[in-house]
Amino acid sequence: MCGIIGYVGDREAAPVLLEGLRRLEYRGYDSAGLAVLEEDGSLCVHKRAGKLDELARALQGAPPRGNLGIGHTRWATHGRPTDANAHPVADCSGRVLVVHNGIIENYRTLKEWLQGRGHRFATETDTEVIAHLVEEGLANGQALPEATRAAVSRLQGANAVLVVSSQWPQGLVAARLGNAGGVVVGLGQGECLVASDLPALLPYTRRVIFLSGGEMAQVSRDGVCIYTLSGQPVSRQPVEVPYDPLSVAKGPYKHFMLKEMMEQPECVLDTLRGRVDFESMRVELEDVDLPREVLSRLRRVVLVGMGTSYHAALVGRHYMETIARLPAEAENASEFRYRDPLVGPDTLVVAVTQSGETVDTLAAMEEARSKGCTLAAVCNVIGSQASRLADCVVYTRCGLEVGVCSTKTFTASLVVLYLLACYLAQARGTQPPEVLAGLLSPLARLPYLLGELTERAEEYERLAHLFYRFGNFLYLGRGIQYPIALEGALKLKEVSYIHAEGYPAGEMKHGPIALIDQDMPVVAIAVRDHLYDKMRNNLEQVKAREGRLIVLASEGDEEMARLADHVVGVPEAPPLLLPVLTAVPLQFFAYYIALRRGCDVDQPRNLAKTVTVE
Ligand code: F6R
Repeated sequence: MCGIIGYVGDREAAPVLLEGLRRLEYRGYDSAGLAVLEEDGSLCVHKRAGKLDELARALQGAPPRGNLGIGHTRWATHGRPTDANAHPVADCSGRVLVVHNGIIENYRTLKEWLQGRGHRFATETDTEVIAHLVEEGLANGQALPEATRAAVSRLQGANAVLVVSSQWPQGLVAARLGNAGGVVVGLGQGECLVASDLPALLPYTRRVIFLSGGEMAQVSRDGVCIYTLSGQPVSRQPVEVPYDPLSVAKGPYKHFMLKEMMEQPECVLDTLRGRVDFESMRVELEDVDLPREVLSRLRRVVLVGMGTSYHAALVGRHYMETIARLPAEAENASEFRYRDPLVGPDTLVVAVTQSGETVDTLAAMEEARSKGCTLAAVCNVIGSQASRLADCVVYTRCGLEVGVCSTKTFTASLVVLYLLACYLAQARGTQPPEVLAGLLSPLARLPYLLGELTERAEEYERLAHLFYRFGNFLYLGRGIQYPIALEGALKLKEVSYIHAEGYPAGEMKHGPIALIDQDMPVVAIAVRDHLYDKMRNNLEQVKAREGRLIVLASEGDEEMARLADHVVGVPEAPPLLLPVLTAVPLQFFAYYIALRRGCDVDQPRNLAKTVTVE
């Protein structure tokens, strides 16, 4: 959840760390800090509660000078967001400083042990035990890498750690335990950086090495040396990441969320590029090469994910059943991982995860792996942990998503799941070629249709202005549009802090209808599909109770225009592809409501982009 960064090289470290923290701020932003090893050999620490600007202000005038340092932007797990609890966190002597992302599950035991040995604790964080454990090692004559290895070997849980010490001026030490908290090392010319995520490295280098769980790195200006927690050297070649640093900037947009919603036509186009041959009407997924025996033994698909990715998984379930003709379920990854699920070699588990680092989704993948399932990942971040755990990956090609709220990666994930279902149908021969052609050909028009929707931003803004004062919303959908109702409600909750619930419209009569009145607007997705008549009946029931109705309807639908108080038009498309379209106006609606309410849309309170703790 937190963002960590380290630098060693010829530049002044403080500005590099500060800029890196800005690019990682989406991971947590309740406090921030940095430490630099100064020329006199002492570590200078600055840390502040609040957003990064507070830290930047504190550095103005007297920034620490030196070429080695670490920084942190925090999302509090242990201890309130105060100056004292901000990272870096020190040992008793102030000669060891640590930044950390994760949760140390056994920190109480370690803290008691350390206190018994005379260590005094200055923060309420779990992180501080690391600094004191390293201090123990240094006192026993170990060098920083060795002392860090000994310290982190005693930690339980999923954690990412960076350590510097005035007693080891040549560099810093990084460690990654378990699946939480990515650690990426960037290799520049005469300089190296380490960070939780790529955006912090891109202004300096695209040559990177991803650490796996259970690995450590000794990082100096000349390069990196990787080894396991048991001390075995690891040889790993750097990879070139294709991201363009410009794409992480906001460009002409006021917010990343707006920029990323606007990018959806292009992201879907890029996600489709080269994967559908519109001549032969075949799907070609470059990274999916499942052996024939695996394909023929599949009997079911289980899709897992969290939050927005879980909603994508719920749509994916329809694709797997309707297109691939495989029985499918979608489950919240945090439930799946603890349920002892009955899955095995006949099951394809599809993990949907934008970041590829969500701890519950990774744990669900490991659970599935231990039971002999085949694992596929739908992911946006190249080289992420999920992409490495899976037998095959289909990437969404969205570039970095910076807004904490997922938008472009949601629609692109739906497209990838659709392609994966078509691939399975093709490879397993479960759909005749003419049916497959009928499924694939409308994909060509999808980016264009998305473009039609994003061009109507002003219409969504006008609608949002009529509704931004309401305190509760109900979102309704049926069938494949039910997950979109859930997603629409989640977007509104996240960015505007308005209470919103998503329901399958058929469930209305079983309780939620009691809520309907003038103060509870209903947002309904009633596009033309096989459940249209059922949906219309549900909406008549809302109207009969004087509910206010906003309806997403197929363009030109006069009947819905009469029934609804406000209609948002959705272009015609095959029903299976409509979720890609209906998601878009709901994202804009949430965005403009949040804006009108003065909310911080790119960094909503209490949230973090990548959830690497349970
Ligand atoms: C909502 C949102 C979150 C993520 C969830 C899973 O806008 O972004 O609900 O979808 O935290 O994250 P990934 O997809 O990275 O596994």
